[in-house]
Amino acid sequence: MTKKHFIFSLLFMAVRLSSFAQQTIEIATKNNVLILETDKDNTLLSTYIGKKLENTAEYPGIQALDKYKPGSDDLLNKREAYIASGSLNLMEPALTVSHADGNKSTVLTFSEVKTEQLDQNRKLTSIVLKDQKYKFQVTLKYLAYFNENVIEQWAEIEHHEKGNVVLYKYASANLTLSGRKFFLKNQYSGATREMRSEEQQLLHGIKTIDSKLGTRTNLLHSSSFMVSIDQPATEDMGEVIAGSLAWTGNFKLDFETFDEYYLRITAGINNFSSDYTLKAGENFITPRFVYTYSSEGKGLASRNLQNWARNYQLLNGKGERSTILNNWETTYFDFNDEKLNELTKDTKKLGVDVFLLDDGWFGNKYPRNGSTSGLVDWQYNRQKLKNGISTLGKEATANGVKFGIWIEPEMVNPKSELYENHPDWIIRQLERKEYYMRNQLVLDLTNPKVQDFIYKTVDDIFKEVPELAFIKWDCNSLIYNANSPTLKNQDHFYIEYIRGLNSVLERIRKKYPKTPMMLCAGGGSRVDYAALKYFTEFWPSDNTNPYDRIFIQWEYSYYFPSVAVDNHITDMGKQPIKFKTDVAMMGKLGYDVRVNELSKNDLLFSQNAVKTYNSFKDIVWHGQQYRLQDPYENKIASIAYINDAKDQAIVFNYHVATLFTNGVILPIKLKGLDPAKKYKIEEINLYPGTKSPIDSAKVYSGDFLMKVGFNPEVNAYRTSVVLKVQALN
Ligand code: DGJ
Repeated sequence: MTKKHFIFSLLFMAVRLSSFAQQTIEIATKNNVLILETDKDNTLLSTYIGKKLENTAEYPGIQALDKYKPGSDDLLNKREAYIASGSLNLMEPALTVSHADGNKSTVLTFSEVKTEQLDQNRKLTSIVLKDQKYKFQVTLKYLAYFNENVIEQWAEIEHHEKGNVVLYKYASANLTLSGRKFFLKNQYSGATREMRSEEQQLLHGIKTIDSKLGTRTNLLHSSSFMVSIDQPATEDMGEVIAGSLAWTGNFKLDFETFDEYYLRITAGINNFSSDYTLKAGENFITPRFVYTYSSEGKGLASRNLQNWARNYQLLNGKGERSTILNNWETTYFDFNDEKLNELTKDTKKLGVDVFLLDDGWFGNKYPRNGSTSGLVDWQYNRQKLKNGISTLGKEATANGVKFGIWIEPEMVNPKSELYENHPDWIIRQLERKEYYMRNQLVLDLTNPKVQDFIYKTVDDIFKEVPELAFIKWDCNSLIYNANSPTLKNQDHFYIEYIRGLNSVLERIRKKYPKTPMMLCAGGGSRVDYAALKYFTEFWPSDNTNPYDRIFIQWEYSYYFPSVAVDNHITDMGKQPIKFKTDVAMMGKLGYDVRVNELSKNDLLFSQNAVKTYNSFKDIVWHGQQYRLQDPYENKIASIAYINDAKDQAIVFNYHVATLFTNGVILPIKLKGLDPAKKYKIEEINLYPGTKSPIDSAKVYSGDFLMKVGFNPEVNAYRTSVVLKVQALN
């Protein structure tokens, strides 16, 4: 044996030994840890998720204390890290497989673990689990973001069997929590009724939150959630797991409580109508399940996710955004060159950055003069726009603003040239009645020709309008009659649609990496972290009534940073423009108003408001958010944003009582300030001619403001108040 061979066999033995010794694997972030351990059968268990222990040598002691000790009549149910079905574990599985020989049992045991420190903040742990009988393996991936306290988890499934394997269920992750009780907070939605909150105790059995809608997948439910352990967590107290599936298609979140102390969360692509045939050697990569643990309530869990999203997921999350004037709610489909030229001038007059031309600018044989025709014939309408969109772009530049445009590239009206010319590009069941949502059908993005068409649509617009500075990407229909005219295996339809969509977005981003894009789906029916990799922001709802918006924006903030949330001031709602503006400022400010019809004072106020917003927007976009007082239980809702240096904060306060009230009786306690710093508080964004009762000369310590609080003097006559909190040098 040569020296080289000897060293190699020693190494090989060492690897084998390490593979079979009992393993404790720590997936650690700054404050928290997920502990995975093998048991005597070499099964990988997840034994702990929570705050880190001081002494890491104590982690192996956790397994022995596991409360669940099945007796002879009890179900043998381990805390497996990834549950495969067909043998031991009879609870809701993460994985159900039919092997090449038709056998439906899979038993996964630990094979090896690898770790890679990707950079100072990110560590990737890959754990290979293998079936002893079949050449079938699952690699569990855990990407830990140290500073953000966030973990991304997913699974990669591969086999080398003699023939195809069918995956019936292929979740991204299982998480087993222990506690006395569990409470699920999730948001249900509808068009204009996005993000209504529900919180419920998870009683025994399975609670499933899912979507089978194909596109617009968040129309009914959000794919993000929070689970509190033992009791419903408050903003600052209690243990919480906040999670979200980063997938733009059908999703499934199962919450299964069992025995007396356990909750198992299973998150992944919805396997509804999606049995996936996996060829030998093919690697099936599930989407990422993103989660964070907080021992200090929901507020911290949200900040963890917001920070992670800004730092790693949301396109240009740490960068700048443009303010917008959009024409949708003022013109709808009724406009022409002259009107639009006036609107670009109004954009300048208002002081915002971009004029965004919405729906209705295209279609000639079937002009897009309403929602029933023209969709997807992307040639500019020659009657409305005699000079074309390229001239609009130039005019905007000449008027000193930027130009943006609306598209809805995945959809088609039956009254369109594309419908006539490419019937095989449309999702439908030819022998069945066509059903429409908003008079449209969905294009078949599983088809590479359709993907090319969509890419070309966007590319052509950029060629026509080289100065294009913004895109609003809409998606107004879900998928009825799911069927691709060209896809060989219809069971792959839902997955291939999203892969097709992602591939188009990937190509667009390769060529146009920076242009801001707004994700919209008839309001906020498509908001997930996977899509936000390609989009700089999203449209939360077509409901722009500022009163409703306080609640909608409040709920989105559980998972998404304000820099991603587009809030427009519109004619909806009877509240004064000051109230509307204050609400819209709590995110990315925009307008959908007839500037030329604003009263002198409303215009002056708005022009000043844009300037004021520009002076503090960085704090709202990139600072830490604290939900101080919720709009459900209180007469005043209050939200603060604080910069990282803790020397500046913006606090938004809104009167949300429907009954006449004398306003805040108790002061509102601020959070996140530096107790040792001294601060002054000034009311900003005042309406012309009004005076603030707040004494901006007074000095308070951070300690005082956080322990005693401050009264923003909100009442039925001062319905919204924006405060600037500034540390003294
Ligand atoms: C739905 C969007 O939510 C609206 O903002 C607007 O863009 C319309 N579609 C246009 O059809």
